[in-house]
Amino acid sequence: MDIRLNVDGTVPFVDEKTGKSLVEKAVAANRSLYEKTGKGSDFLGWVSLPLSVSESDISEIETVSKNLKEISDVVIVTGIGGSYLGAKAVIEALNSSFEAYIDSDSPKIIFAGHHLDEDYLSELLDFIEDKRVACIVISKSGTTTEPAVAFRIIKRHIEQKYGKEGAKERIVAVTDRSHGALRKLSEQEGYKTFVIPDDVGGRFSVLTPVGLLPISVAGIDIRILLKGATDMEKASQVDVPAEENICIQYAVVRNLLYGNGKKIEILASYSPRLHSLTEWWKQLFGESEGKNGKGIFPAGVDFTSDLHSMGQYIQEGERMLFETVVSIEKPREELVIPEDAENLDQLNFLSGRRISEVNRMAELGTMLAHIDGGVPNIRIEIPELNAYILGQLIYFFEKSCGISGYVLGVNPFDQPGVEAYKKNMFALLGKAGYESEGEKLRARLL
Ligand code: PA5
Repeated sequence: MDIRLNVDGTVPFVDEKTGKSLVEKAVAANRSLYEKTGKGSDFLGWVSLPLSVSESDISEIETVSKNLKEISDVVIVTGIGGSYLGAKAVIEALNSSFEAYIDSDSPKIIFAGHHLDEDYLSELLDFIEDKRVACIVISKSGTTTEPAVAFRIIKRHIEQKYGKEGAKERIVAVTDRSHGALRKLSEQEGYKTFVIPDDVGGRFSVLTPVGLLPISVAGIDIRILLKGATDMEKASQVDVPAEENICIQYAVVRNLLYGNGKKIEILASYSPRLHSLTEWWKQLFGESEGKNGKGIFPAGVDFTSDLHSMGQYIQEGERMLFETVVSIEKPREELVIPEDAENLDQLNFLSGRRISEVNRMAELGTMLAHIDGGVPNIRIEIPELNAYILGQLIYFFEKSCGISGYVLGVNPFDQPGVEAYKKNMFALLGKAGYESEGEKLRARLL
């Protein structure tokens, strides 16, 4: 495998005996994922997903993606939570930070429906006014408010521009096989649809059309991404011993640290390309583990930027943190620091040296400083960022998350707590059926 898990920076903070018993639990948890004997076993389709995506599914995604690329300058991906974060993570990780896309034929991908900000949607309408637009609308339930509101706006825009017939070519829906408002609407309007398998929950769905279609439109080879995930699946099966299974090891070490009072895990990287991967990871672990009054709180930082904002707290604040660094060995580009005749900034000692060397020393120096300051350090080391390694990384995190949730003793595949805000929002907005609750809530707000 291209991913190396380095837990040396946790050694001073964990004890071996507890570690051994957690390894046994984690091995059993991994088995439960395959044998479907644990909690939430109806939602384990993702475990063997990379292997089970068929050639015809991939070809269909590629065909639709080719068409969307040809007819649009902008593709708006409408979805929230697991219905957009995975695609955003992969696209940003593999893209140039400035140019449109790796593949210059690809349209610009814009995400919408992941919040309810009126300004954002108004500005989006202005932005797409004179552009050729298409939309991939993604919702498993088909009833989630944020993407549904955004989709109403985008659908109207597309219909006004291209007519109902034109909209059929430009709107693709990814949703449940048979249930939900989006399925019904798609059938009524004649949209092309892709199915989110029943047994794959939102935050585990990046390797279904939910992630694969937008990723393919962005010009990324989804076959290579899937190959990476498949290889990681094979490397983390039940017959792989714990000492070789990095998913088990990561799940064990984070639970060990949690048991020792480290309640917050910070995912850190030294490349802004990984910002959205961190957002995806936060949802994956936060929604899977934060329940029954338990769970590690997943936070994220972009270093070195955040060393100048969060660095103080991490170094000297309350000692309830541990840090997991996704470390990329080789950058994609090469750039050296130039000599400066005046040397006012006193940085000529760095002249001729790669920026990545400075970044690497910042990373290693920070790791040692944080360990000395009482912050355990886990490193996920990858040689470089490409589709194959990203596929491995995605599956590594998903598998580790499933195992870790079982070790913690929760159902990692439900999210009952997400409903609380929705109920209150509907009650405050006066939705039928919520009248008395609405009155009570309004009284509390006075
Ligand atoms: O992981 C999950 O299940 C959630 O985060 C969902 O992905 C999110 O709420 C969006 O749901 P839906 O795809 O049904 O609109």
